[in-house]
Amino acid sequence: MKNFKIALIPGDGIGPEVIAEGVKVLKTIERLNSEISFSFTEFPWGCQYYLENGKMMADDGIEQLKEYDAIYLGAVGYPGVPDTISLRDLLIRIRREFDQYVNCRPVTLLNPSLTPLKDKTEKDIDFLVIRENSEGEYAGAGDWLFKGKPEEVVLQTGVFSRKGTERIIRYAYEEAKKSNRTLTSVSKANALNYSMVFWDEVFEEVGKEYPEVKTYSHLVDAASLYFVVAPERFEVVVTSNLFGDILTDIGAAITGGMGLATGANLNPEKKFPSMFEPVHGSAPDISGQGIANPIAAIWSVSQMMDFFEEEQWGEVILSTIKTILTEKNSITPDLGGTSSTEGLGNRFVELLTLQA
Ligand code: NAI
Ligand code: MG
Repeated sequence: MKNFKIALIPGDGIGPEVIAEGVKVLKTIERLNSEISFSFTEFPWGCQYYLENGKMMADDGIEQLKEYDAIYLGAVGYPGVPDTISLRDLLIRIRREFDQYVNCRPVTLLNPSLTPLKDKTEKDIDFLVIRENSEGEYAGAGDWLFKGKPEEVVLQTGVFSRKGTERIIRYAYEEAKKSNRTLTSVSKANALNYSMVFWDEVFEEVGKEYPEVKTYSHLVDAASLYFVVAPERFEVVVTSNLFGDILTDIGAAITGGMGLATGANLNPEKKFPSMFEPVHGSAPDISGQGIANPIAAIWSVSQMMDFFEEEQWGEVILSTIKTILTEKNSITPDLGGTSSTEGLGNRFVELLTLQA
């Protein structure tokens, strides 16, 4: 019997609405497989907590989370609390303190009707973006000089350490090798003459250990174009924090939008818990209406199962998502359907029970 301890941080806006449906899926797995059980602890952290307590999470929050196998997070951020506080003091803090240096975002088309790209089908759009998640352009290093004066100067420094760059690139090579896929590095050495020249060098160096992996290297502007006109070029992609952030939004756009995009923040060594979350935010424009699409949050559960080495569950969740996407009455309005968030979740559980 395997027990996985899961910390739930539903967060703000539609976060709790979509996480509730993901938890239903986890409970269904537990019901269908007597070898697996989950225990859940919910943490009330987020913007409401901030308004009441002046902080986004408990002072010893990181200490409290340490003992869990995974964190399942909805979204944080809400009008009334500056985004710099809500994101930095919760999400980014967890990613940092738990050394979740890998961000894995699948760009997989699960139904041909979901892509705005003409003539592209499931076989053309099926790849994984591995984004550096701990340093790079998001390191928060820089300076703000002569504020408000005519000579004002702002510096935002990208931080690329040997350790940080090597480990993400090595992770990507391993992923490509074990799944027998090609690996594409996305950088920008022609303009960023320190960081990206270094990145390209490390990509080549580490590559010597993986002669069996076929590699490509693209500048980020060209890669953005190929994401749209030739997504079939990609199988595994590795890139820096900022480039990965932008490219994966293009990835979301070509596969059905924010309601479907998911991302795992991994500490591959399992020294600390990893965090699973839909890519979207708290969507204040639709929160409280019961129409948020929970599929991204459910896909996060699939990634969690893969990470727990319960890949058969990861796969059956994905195939159930494919099935539900064919049922107009079972999907939410963002996908042109008529279902509520809860209705989708309930139908999902029925289908999962049939398919498992
Ligand atoms: P957002 O992702 O919340 O919403 C963007 C658009 O997509 C909205 O029109 C929204 O209705 C729609 N949308 C998003 N998720 C959806 C879903 N599951 N189903 C149907 N429609 C969906 O991004 P926005 O508006 O820029 O940010 C809102 C708040 O969320 C901000 O406070 C921001 O800081 C925070 N945020 C938090 C993130 C996180 O917790 N990881 C990530 C992105 C934003
Ligand atoms: Mg983003």
